[in-house]
Amino acid sequence: MESESPNDWIDVASAADLSAGQAMEVVVGEHVIALFRDADSLYALDGLCAHQGGPVAKGELSKTDAGKTCVTCPWHGWQYELATGIQTVNRQPLQRTFPIRERNGRVEVQV
Ligand code: FES
Repeated sequence: MESESPNDWIDVASAADLSAGQAMEVVVGEHVIALFRDADSLYALDGLCAHQGGPVAKGELSKTDAGKTCVTCPWHGWQYELATGIQTVNRQPLQRTFPIRERNGRVEVQV
């Protein structure tokens, strides 16, 4: 059974503007959202770091030993798994994630 309504997805960017290894920050209503793409997938996280509100979209991407793509906040180095928002040191899901997809050349999120 289809659980989503087409209206749930919000167009936030051109897919061409978010190539592999890149990030961008968008504002959807009252949410600042950091968008990322690695070699395999798109990701959307809260754009304001759970620590002190640093700009997550400006962080460096890297891989954990387990092969998960992470972003490191540029302010104090907290690191989050993109797929889950889990902070890699304390293993808690501190950073909110949002559903994201690519459709017809556009990037869409649900908030
Ligand atoms: S604000 Fe992100 S690590 Fe401190």
